[in-house]
Amino acid sequence: MRLEKYIATSGIASRRAVKKSILAGAVTVNGETVLVPGHPINVETDAVEFEGKRVEPLTEHIYLMLNKPSGCVTTRRDERGRPTVMDLVADLPDTIYPVGRLDLETEGLLLFTNDGNFAYRLLHPSHEIEKTYLVWVKGVPSEEAVQRLRQGVTIPSGTTAPAKVKRLKVSKDGASMKFEVVIHEGKKRQVRMMFKAVGHPVIRLKRIRIGNLGLGNLPSGQYRFLTSEEISELMML
Ligand code: URA
Repeated sequence: MRLEKYIATSGIASRRAVKKSILAGAVTVNGETVLVPGHPINVETDAVEFEGKRVEPLTEHIYLMLNKPSGCVTTRRDERGRPTVMDLVADLPDTIYPVGRLDLETEGLLLFTNDGNFAYRLLHPSHEIEKTYLVWVKGVPSEEAVQRLRQGVTIPSGTTAPAKVKRLKVSKDGASMKFEVVIHEGKKRQVRMMFKAVGHPVIRLKRIRIGNLGLGNLPSGQYRFLTSEEISELMML
C-alpha cells in the first residue's frame, strides 16, 4: 500500500495533510525518513511514524474461500497476462492474497486473507494440516499401485509422506477412476506427481477440504467469507 494512503486510512490526518508532512520530512519508515508519498508499505511488517507518533493502521482482517476454476494462475500478478485468482476477488481490498497455491489446472478450495499471522500458521509445514483432494486419473490403478501411494512414493521433489487414498469409482467406460486423497505436505504438484509415479496421470484435480473446512457447494469462480467459527477452527490447527 502507498505510504500516504496507509497513514491516511489510520485516521491520523487527511490525505492532503499526510502528503504535506511526508514532503516536509516528518515521516519515517523503519526509522528512515521517506520523502516519497507513493513509497510502498508492507502493512504487516513496516513501522511507520508520522510526526513522531507510531501509526497503527485500521486493518480489518479479511478471510475468505474461493472455488478456483481451472485455467487461472495463483499469483497476484502474471507477467504473461494470464487470468489470475485475483481477478475473481477484484471487488475486495487489494491487501488480500492467496494462502498457498493451486496449480493452473487445479480447481477448488483456495483461501485468501490479509492476516499474515493466519497465513503463516496455515502454511507452516510443522502444522501438517490435512488437505483433501478429489482426483480423476487415467486408467484403473491396481491395489499394489494404491498401496504405494499410501506408503509414499518418490517424486522429483522428494519422497512423499504416507497419504490417505480412498477409491471412489471407475468411470462407466472403464477408462478412468476417481479417488479421494488426503495429504499434509505441499510438495510441488504433489498429487499429480504421486499418481504419475505409479503410471496413472491425473486428468482432473480438485481440492475440497483444508483441515475441517469444506468447499461445500460454492459455485466455481465464486467466493464467500469465512464465519468466525471457521476462522477460529483453522487458527487452532
Ligand atoms: N497437488 C497438485 O498436484 N496440484 C495442486 O494444485 C495441489 C496439490
